[in-house]
Amino acid sequence: MSQLGLEQYVVNPEVLAHTIAHFREQGIILPTFAQLADPSTIPDAVTERLADVSPDAADPLNLFRVHWYNSADRASTVDVPGHVVLPPSLTGVQAPIVVALGERFPMIAAHKVLAAYGCLAPRLVTGQFDPTAHKAIWPSTGNYCRGGIAVSRIMNCRGVAILPEGMSRERFDWLDAWCLNPADDIVRTPGSESNVKEIYDACNELDLVESNVIFNQFAEFGNALVHRFCTGAALSHIYRHVAASREGLELFAFTSATGSAGTLSAGDHLKDAHGTRIVAVEATACPTLLRNGFGEHNIQGIGDKHVPYVHNVMNTDAVAGIDDAASDSLYYLCKQAEGRKYLAERHGVPQEILEATSSFGLSSWANILAAIKVAKYWDLGPNQAIMTVATDGAAMYGSEDEKILRTRFGGQFDQVAAAEAFGRHMLGNGTDWFDELSYNDKQRMFNLGYYTWVEQQGVSVEEFSSRKNPAFWRDLDALVPAWDAMIADFNAQTGLL
Ligand SMILES: Cc1ncc(COP(=O)(O)O)c(C=O)c1O
Repeated sequence: MSQLGLEQYVVNPEVLAHTIAHFREQGIILPTFAQLADPSTIPDAVTERLADVSPDAADPLNLFRVHWYNSADRASTVDVPGHVVLPPSLTGVQAPIVVALGERFPMIAAHKVLAAYGCLAPRLVTGQFDPTAHKAIWPSTGNYCRGGIAVSRIMNCRGVAILPEGMSRERFDWLDAWCLNPADDIVRTPGSESNVKEIYDACNELDLVESNVIFNQFAEFGNALVHRFCTGAALSHIYRHVAASREGLELFAFTSATGSAGTLSAGDHLKDAHGTRIVAVEATACPTLLRNGFGEHNIQGIGDKHVPYVHNVMNTDAVAGIDDAASDSLYYLCKQAEGRKYLAERHGVPQEILEATSSFGLSSWANILAAIKVAKYWDLGPNQAIMTVATDGAAMYGSEDEKILRTRFGGQFDQVAAAEAFGRHMLGNGTDWFDELSYNDKQRMFNLGYYTWVEQQGVSVEEFSSRKNPAFWRDLDALVPAWDAMIADFNAQTGLL
């Protein structure tokens, strides 16, 4: 199967030579994974030039902002990745819930541009993608295709976004502005984020055209590895920073709603470094992992009815199901001034927390609600932190507000509605739809992936099954330094550094 992206040698020297010439001409330097994991290692010459570049410009230098260390205005860097520690007054649990801020990433204001770069860079330096001849195809349940289009624009090459038609209007507006040819380059697949099979179908059709290269985040290990290496290191740094002022703080668990399960791979890093448990999050309205279920939901950006190929299922410790009525309602509660007033006056939630949470997107709330389930299920105390990510910001969902007001609040939002939403969805968030996984549960989830990958997508049984062995995932670690060496060599050949 060609989508795996596991090569660490030059597959096509001719393609590589074209790409180097094109990058030289366009003035594009590639950051290494190590630089994105620790931006203090980015060369001064780059950092100085970056100061004059807007974080929302399609400028090649913005590749050096594809990391967790951007400041609140996204223009400069900070010593510790942006995060907020949610207090018991908001969450109703004693365990601190630490949320990393994905909104600070450049160009798309969401962390999935990191996944897009993680899939692209290895393909470039191994001579598998020629931006002068190929079209980059970015299948997505939300933000990944925006990240893909952003990096395509930077390379001045055609990129095609594939995403479900039911996604928020803001995403399509963004794509209209960034795609080189929006009429042809935005493929709307039927349904919502639950319809990943339809996304695979669209990919397979486009794959028939030889000049199309599919960056299939669901199967491309660059996605998992960039998150394990960069997101994992950033979250670990945040934890160590928070723990420095809270003696004895343990990093008990990491929660992440899975679309491609790329972000969840940061949990592999945290488990190795801190013994952290990994909790996958999905919608109760489409409980694929919990119940082999199906359905529709509004936790935009997460995808279901499949088990991604890059999901290290056997390393997952628990699955939490979140009701999208809860994520919708808490998103709305914290976004509205009336809701924030209620939280400040009745529960004493600090202003800076209200400010930060007012811009959390829908799946960010799913992640937080899952962290609260973890705290309740394991009876966690103040010395047991749970880490998660605010994947994107509220800016992507303004057009959802009217629908949420109508469907979740009967068209009226006041202090009473705020209290009802908080009582029901935050304080009343219990340990239902939460499974701590036995070995048998993990096997059941792992085997479910067979139907997508072996039956539908043509992976061999041997390849598919090899991912059950922890050694398979450990061995992937060697790819990152190998790719970084190839990136360094690539930059040396463009002569731009
Ligand atoms: C808003 C949002 N939340 C969550 C996710 C899931 O992230 P991952 O694909 O890394 O599992 C995505 C993925 O695109 C997303 O766009």
